[in-house]
Amino acid sequence: MQRPDLNPIAVSMRALSKRYATGHQALKHVDLEIRRGEIFALLGPNGAGKTTLISIVCGIVTPSGGGVTVDGMDIVRDWRATRSCIGLVPQELTTDAFETVWNTVRFSRGLFGKAPDPAHLETVLRDLSLWDKRDARLMTLSGGMKRRLMIAKALSHEPSILFLDEPTAGVDVELRREMWGLVRRLRERGVTIILTTHYIEEAEEMADRVGVIHEGELIVVEDKRTLMKKLGKRVLRIELAQPLPALPPALAGWPLDLTDGGRRLEYQMGASGDNGDSVGALLAGLATSGVAVRDVESHKTSLEEIFVGLVSRRAAPEAAR
Ligand SMILES: Nc1ncnc2c1ncn2[C@@H]1O[C@H](COP(=O)(O)OP(=O)(O)OP(=O)(O)O)[C@@H](O)[C@H]1O
Ligand SMILES: [Mg+2]
Repeated sequence: MQRPDLNPIAVSMRALSKRYATGHQALKHVDLEIRRGEIFALLGPNGAGKTTLISIVCGIVTPSGGGVTVDGMDIVRDWRATRSCIGLVPQELTTDAFETVWNTVRFSRGLFGKAPDPAHLETVLRDLSLWDKRDARLMTLSGGMKRRLMIAKALSHEPSILFLDEPTAGVDVELRREMWGLVRRLRERGVTIILTTHYIEEAEEMADRVGVIHEGELIVVEDKRTLMKKLGKRVLRIELAQPLPALPPALAGWPLDLTDGGRRLEYQMGASGDNGDSVGALLAGLATSGVAVRDVESHKTSLEEIFVGLVSRRAAPEAAR
């Protein structure tokens, strides 16, 4: 449930730029608004600028240009207040090997000036299956446990906005599913979530909206479903029993490609004028033309294929230079 007194925009970035001391321009005029309560996935290849963007919002990196507000508050002027709204799970694991799990989350909460709340910390540790490990020193934890601890640490001060920078890198499939479940539960409680990932199925599974960043530029921001509908395609592949030398004249008006030496027909579904019954009509057309079908398979473009298409389209003029 959204509270009416809350700002509908959780994070607003305006003309955000970053040039590092090396001269490298890691972000170029990024404008982006994160809506309260959404899961926003930031996708981009290595070095695209994802961690830089997150680090600026969290006050770890100073922008060279532009500004950020969190809950309507400026991150520079209202540093303390904005930072305490945010939980950050950084890409790099940083832990004190000799500290215990319990002390780590307790200390982290204290850093944000929040009053001690053992019950909250217990809930967080239980949610992340770390309660049994509360007295364990961090050096005795497995890699996956350390990752979960980083999330527990980020949640210790009850942030309303959570940044997860590659939360499931190097995490096994089961733990990844568990973490997805946790992220969904957090969203149900009203937490706004911004995650970066290289696992595009993660964005496909989780995100409400997707942003694609490439060489410091935000090239697409779109509702995930719209993006997949707009750029995704559905193709029907029809394997023929006998190779065809050419399309039968009766099928001349159809958007069909004859491939694989005449052994396969590819039909782009969802083209304009397609009212949903075209597959049946096409198969009937093939039958009346005496074309025997061996197999039929439909294939939907994944977010991954859309992403690779977007980034390589951008990279192509670059390579030609
Ligand atoms: N402290 C720094 N000094 C100089 N250049 C930096 C610094 N931090 C990052 N960069 C450069 O800025 C660019 C963006 O880096 P960033 O870490 O934001 O990328 P990323 O999208 O998070 O990549 P990855 O997917 O590998 O985590 C890269 O070219 C990187 O080398
Ligand atoms: Mg990164």
